[in-house]
Amino acid sequence: MEPTEQDRELYERARAAAANAHVPYSRFAVGAALLTEDGTVVTGVNVENVSYGLTSCAERNAIFTAVGSGHQRFQAIAIHGDSPSVPPCGACRQVMSEFAPALRIIRPVDGKLDATTLAELLPEQFAL
Ligand code: THU
Repeated sequence: MEPTEQDRELYERARAAAANAHVPYSRFAVGAALLTEDGTVVTGVNVENVSYGLTSCAERNAIFTAVGSGHQRFQAIAIHGDSPSVPPCGACRQVMSEFAPALRIIRPVDGKLDATTLAELLPEQFAL
């Protein structure tokens, strides 16, 4: 769906955050901006490691930082990367579903900013 003005502002926060990414291996900087229930914006970036599998995605880093600061309810997340399409990876979708099954997700699709929901991107998420 068409992004709102608030979505675009959140996306600009994700874009700004991406400058802090630690990406010496992929050179693909990702920034995420998470909007909490009370209107706080928490950002995250991807942090890579020489032991590649230890890399942590921008979206999960934003969520874990937010949870560590006392936030567990989220309205939306925006994701920026220097690519026409930047879908959140499957692992990040599952982590999003832990806290916000109805999360709004703003990310570029084919070069255009688009808004969707986690329910659209992750049907049948694992749950007990
Ligand atoms: N990456 C993210 O930060 N978020 C995603 O949803 C997918 C991929 C990062 C991991 C790695 O540092 C780089 O992008 C290339 O895969």
